[in-house]
Amino acid sequence: MAQILIVDDDAQLRQSFGKILESEGFEIRAAACGEAGVEAVKSLPPDLVIMDVRMPGITGIQAMQQMRAACPGLPVVIMTAYGGTETAIEATKLGAFDYILKPFDVPDILRLIGQALTAGRLTRARVAIAPEDSEDGGDDSGDALVGRSRAMQDVFKAIGRAAPTDALVLIRGESGTGKELVARALWQHGSRADKPFVVINCVAIPDTLLESELFGYEKGAFTGAGSRRVGKIEQAQRGTIFLDEIGDMPMNVQAKILRLLQEKQIERLGGRETIPVDVRILAATNRDMEAAVAEGRLREDLYYRLKVVTVTLPHLREREGDVSLLAAHFLSRLARELDMQNPGLTPEALDMLTAHPWPGNVRELGNVLKKALIFSRGCPIDPEEMRQAIGTRRDASPGADRNTDPRGAQEAAQAGGDAPLRAFIRHALMDEAGNAAFEHVLDAVARDTIAEALEITGGNRTRAAKLLGLSRPTLIAKIEKYGLKVTTQVQ
Ligand SMILES: Nc1ncnc2c1ncn2[C@@H]1O[C@H](COP(=O)(O)OP(=O)(O)OP(=O)(O)O)[C@@H](O)[C@H]1O
Ligand SMILES: [Mg+2]
Repeated sequence: MAQILIVDDDAQLRQSFGKILESEGFEIRAAACGEAGVEAVKSLPPDLVIMDVRMPGITGIQAMQQMRAACPGLPVVIMTAYGGTETAIEATKLGAFDYILKPFDVPDILRLIGQALTAGRLTRARVAIAPEDSEDGGDDSGDALVGRSRAMQDVFKAIGRAAPTDALVLIRGESGTGKELVARALWQHGSRADKPFVVINCVAIPDTLLESELFGYEKGAFTGAGSRRVGKIEQAQRGTIFLDEIGDMPMNVQAKILRLLQEKQIERLGGRETIPVDVRILAATNRDMEAAVAEGRLREDLYYRLKVVTVTLPHLREREGDVSLLAAHFLSRLARELDMQNPGLTPEALDMLTAHPWPGNVRELGNVLKKALIFSRGCPIDPEEMRQAIGTRRDASPGADRNTDPRGAQEAAQAGGDAPLRAFIRHALMDEAGNAAFEHVLDAVARDTIAEALEITGGNRTRAAKLLGLSRPTLIAKIEKYGLKVTTQVQ
């Protein structure tokens, strides 16, 4: 049950408003002045504060600042009887979730409360990078959105506001900034959370297939359409569909999506029947959509529809203080996934992280920490290990670090012509030319990769499989195929 603290010098308001909120299922605490409110927050932080501006003693704005200093991320809604924009601007500028004019309508304040509570929940994040803090029983779903910077607070607020509506939301941001995670947050905090969340990656699916993937087809719609197929949009019925990389959607599909947005109905390919669909659409892109419109790659009418509600993710560099929070988050999550102890970071290693420009944003940070964790030898990750982890990234182009590179192979391959791997490949090509050079090289690399993973994990096949991104049975089959000896260490 969410707990709300009401701070107002008007006893009657405290009482009547408190009653209304209690009947809505909230737990209510009350304070009669700013000072008492601050004390209440310090002794036991509520989930939300609703506070008047003008009170004897410190003002609501001052009290809010003290509360948020004591409890960052606490959502505060300011009430004011004076419609001055000064207060409104001041309040939101200083961190109020929102402000509302007195007198207010109950449905309005309830909607605002819902949004503020959602934003507050999204804010919770881990704080330190000491290993002992990693087991904090907090919200540990791998999907937690981490961030305390002002820039991310704004994103959380926007999510809080947009989630409960059914509006189409466009999520913009560079590669690796967390667009998919935000889409999932919008879904999880919306009214369709218990219904499907269907992701369509418009770049990953070839243009020729995207249309039938999305809209489905009737038997005989085209050669090869042997039976009817229901598309992803229909599969998402009553749920949410996430159109990822929408900036890359082919023109014919754009027209159909536009029609879906306008008329809320679709037709399967080769079908005559119009099918009403009830889906919420979320979309993301890292493209310059304005340029795409100018160049005729994106329909202008679709663009205007898409951009009505936009959430823009800041670059990781613009999220002051978030790198260390994210590092703590990733270390504890990765340690769990790889079944390793979380060694923590030394302050110097953390300094290196904060100084790095992160062209690949949060995804790059996650990949660097994964490498650092693998290089670490049970002691806190030190600058040398961190340098190795950061240094092994070669290509700073967005998306280049999408997948964690296998150590060794690519590195050696990129290191230059005289790297051992290159030399080996050249040999194989000479010796086996016209024979099976390709298979031979791949087998050798596969064998070494698996051997390395087994060595790093002390022979633990489950961990090695996770590290390699293989299933355990596949790994075991390969161990047999390559005749690898596994010396299992006692864990
Ligand atoms: N604020 C965050 N807190 C925790 N993890 C995050 C955050 N932002 C991103 N991540 C993690 O970083 C990785 C990249 O995020 P995501 O896939 O959502 O990015 P994206 O913007 O969709 O990237 P792309 O444009 O390359 O598809 C994921 O592993 C995600 O879990
Ligand atoms: Mg993405």
